[in-house]
Amino acid sequence: MCGIVGYIGTQQAGPVLLEGLGRLEHRGYDSAGLAVLGPGANPALRTVKKAGRVRDLREGLPKRFSGKVGIGHTRWATHGPANDVNAHPHTDAKGDVAVVHNGIIDNAAALRHRLAREGVDLVSDTDTEVLAHLVALSSADTLEGRVSEALAFVEGTYGLAVMHADFPDRIVVARNGSPLIIGVGDKEMHIASDLAALVRYTTTVAHLEDGEIATVTAGGFTTYRSDLSHTDRPTTSLDLDLSAYDPVGEEGGYMQREILDQPAAAERVLRGRLDERFGTAHLGGLNMDARETRAIRRVKILGCGSAYYVGQMGASLIEELARIPADAEAASEFRYRDPVIEHDTLYVAVSQSGETIDTLLAVQEIRRKGGRVIGLVNVVGSAIARACDGGIYLHAGPEVAVASTKALTTMYLGFALLALQLGRTRDLSIADGKRLIAGLQALPGQIEEVLTLDERLATIATRLAEADSLFFIGRVRGYPVAREGAQKFKEITYRHAEAYQTSELKHGPLALISADVPTVALVPDDELTDRNVAALHEIQARGGPLVVLTHAGVDLGDVECERIDLPRSERELDPILMAIALQLLALHAATTLGLDVDKPRNLAKSVTVE
Ligand code: F6R
Repeated sequence: MCGIVGYIGTQQAGPVLLEGLGRLEHRGYDSAGLAVLGPGANPALRTVKKAGRVRDLREGLPKRFSGKVGIGHTRWATHGPANDVNAHPHTDAKGDVAVVHNGIIDNAAALRHRLAREGVDLVSDTDTEVLAHLVALSSADTLEGRVSEALAFVEGTYGLAVMHADFPDRIVVARNGSPLIIGVGDKEMHIASDLAALVRYTTTVAHLEDGEIATVTAGGFTTYRSDLSHTDRPTTSLDLDLSAYDPVGEEGGYMQREILDQPAAAERVLRGRLDERFGTAHLGGLNMDARETRAIRRVKILGCGSAYYVGQMGASLIEELARIPADAEAASEFRYRDPVIEHDTLYVAVSQSGETIDTLLAVQEIRRKGGRVIGLVNVVGSAIARACDGGIYLHAGPEVAVASTKALTTMYLGFALLALQLGRTRDLSIADGKRLIAGLQALPGQIEEVLTLDERLATIATRLAEADSLFFIGRVRGYPVAREGAQKFKEITYRHAEAYQTSELKHGPLALISADVPTVALVPDDELTDRNVAALHEIQARGGPLVVLTHAGVDLGDVECERIDLPRSERELDPILMAIALQLLALHAATTLGLDVDKPRNLAKSVTVE
């Protein structure tokens, strides 16, 4: 999604802002821009913006672009095409005000009409431009007053930063639904929509809350409610592995690095949470005692995209281990069907970024109706984490690549811990609890084993990359894994990849099977193996090429296929090992095609607009 950066301090703002924009580069955008207040007593505001990469912006900067106050933006187009004019920052007619904005102004059309009637000449197609004009039209004494007056007209979501030539000692920022973080440095302050942009400079940060406005000067910041009454916004110190943000040279990019980090990420999410003596999990952050846990009659998991698919895997784990009815739903649909919120249902929001607006709005809907929500969230202090009643932090470490990998593995393990704890307050025996704990402890090693299959998976991926269309199939526990495998494949290879329940093939999609349409089939060693093998025969009989992820010892009969034997884990944990093998297939197919895996077209790392 769009990215915001800002700087005010003793350094030249341009290079600092470009560095920050570069850090957001892998997260998806189509244009970028900067505005800097020039030096001197009556500083002029200078704006440069360009469709394309940060590199294009850097090359397009004028020689003299000095100034110690500035804002910058990477845009992911929502209103109007990706071109120079629609790129941010947007300015008023005189060029005194500059605004960068994430989110969507819902009443932009009405505001544009109003401004046009008042004689304002709007030059772009964007919703953001109205903000610059509204700030310019305000006659309040202070910049925060002008921003507050402008925002009073606005309906929608925003994270924004505003500069004004008449107020050169400050940047005013505001948040409503889109993240906005202030980073505290030494005689300098940073602003960003994403930690990735500022952690190089500081790890002392403050997250603005929805409805807050802040004045940021070189010496500090002050926060306000929309009526400009003061709020108290504490700073926190981040404990992050900053090396995760270091540039990567290899063609597999951040995505490959993050895939390889999965054994360590698995250890991190499990650390200190397994109780071997009682065969259960310790999850203090849930803020629920055993009596409350026992009162849960249903679990409803909400997430978007891959987080939703892992949610489906998690629902299976909870049903199997805790015998509580559980299901997952796309958070993006949830609140639009006016859901019935039950007081004995545990709602679980799952999100890497903790900023996905659809998931956040689902959480707010549940809480508004009195439901209890916990979060499985990676980014500490993120909006979803803060909006929940409690939760499990995932400790995956920073995930930079757009395609989620290690965060998903930690989500899966988070669900395994939750299922274990829920199960052990019910009928899951201590023996089964201990069996699962042993399985979880062995998992990082088994992930290592999957990663050693890299070369073989790369060879198979080269062939899969030739197909325009593929199927990913699995049953029961395997079906959400197939969905996630197809998702990963399509988002970075741009090939059509469709997931199906193996059992549903003959009810329609078998019509599409041919020598040009390969199928990646999940055939674990479980109670459905025979049925799965029968489906492989049906595909083979129609000439469909097959890649089969299975376990050593599984008899595939005379099925001709590329066979990959995965390490065996406890059967409940098989899905995650299969999902990791599918990540490697997608990664290698994309690099074979010469695609940049870290910059999939049209996509963004965290989706902060509805
Ligand atoms: C796919 C992917 C997305 C995210 C989804 C939710 O690889 O990364 O589908 O899973 O946008 O994002 P979070 O987990 O940040 O809420």
